[in-house]
Amino acid sequence: MSKAQGSTTLWNYFSRHSPRVRRKRGVLPTSSEMPGIPFLPFSILQGILGVLCVGLTGFWGQHWLGGFAWDGSSEMFNWHPVLMVTGMLVLYGSAALVYRVPFSWERPKLPWKLLHAALTLVAFILVILGLVAVFEFHNKKKIPNMYSLHSWLGLTAVLLFSCQWIMGFASFLLPWAPIWLRALYKPIHVFFGSAILSLVLAACISGINEKLFFRLTNSTTPYSKLPAEAWFANFLGMLILIYGLLVLWALALPAWKRPDVNSQDIQEPLLQEAR
Ligand code: HEM
Repeated sequence: MSKAQGSTTLWNYFSRHSPRVRRKRGVLPTSSEMPGIPFLPFSILQGILGVLCVGLTGFWGQHWLGGFAWDGSSEMFNWHPVLMVTGMLVLYGSAALVYRVPFSWERPKLPWKLLHAALTLVAFILVILGLVAVFEFHNKKKIPNMYSLHSWLGLTAVLLFSCQWIMGFASFLLPWAPIWLRALYKPIHVFFGSAILSLVLAACISGINEKLFFRLTNSTTPYSKLPAEAWFANFLGMLILIYGLLVLWALALPAWKRPDVNSQDIQEPLLQEAR
């Protein structure tokens, strides 16, 4: 066999795991559940949308909100949306999709588990910085804390995310978690993964809306007249919504679930492979 034949290209890999081929191989449950969309174009679209969400949030902060600083000023607040959208939406959403990468399905699960844990850990660090930015700003300006629906939704998402990370680490990463605990916790982990992302969407959208009301209430061109900034931030909110809904959709598709979805996690503690 020639070298070219023998090597498995990325494209071959994705083709071999396309819904059509997986259906033929009997890996998929029913043909009516087939989405007919290959994962590769979907993940490229997700990547572009993610970069746009972060980039446009940064552009809003730079162009309309006065730029960025780390000194308790309103410019320090501007880090809050950027860090939250980057951490809790884009990195967290990407981490959730790691096991949907068909390339990973016939390879050892350990590197993908580590990638999942690492992405969510980086997301968590950014989220903490994002919260520091807004609390410091509030405290310095003597603005009351935790009064808005946005702050309640947001903090609930962060608290659930923290529990999810600790429980995931303890159950799937550490070798001494019993198999029955892993089996019991896995569907809960999967459910809360999507539930937290839904909360994140609610928090991002309510946060954008709240900021627009703060900024445009006494402005010469009020929100109701849809000035350029309002148009821009409304558009950003819609983009964030599309990004999040696409992740939730991909997570729910049976065709994109890892074939061994119920076995490996439960039977193999992550660190056992590493020893
Ligand atoms: C998942 C993402 C987000 C989470 C978890 C989150 C969380 C929070 C929390 C806990 C507070 C309360 C801070 C305090 O009371 O001192 C807050 C405040 C705030 N956030 Fe967010 N936030 C998120 C995204 C956003 C986004 C995208 C914006 C867009 C501009 C935003 C705008 C605001 C504003 C204006 C405040 C100050 C007013 C208030 O307390 O509601 N947030 N956020």
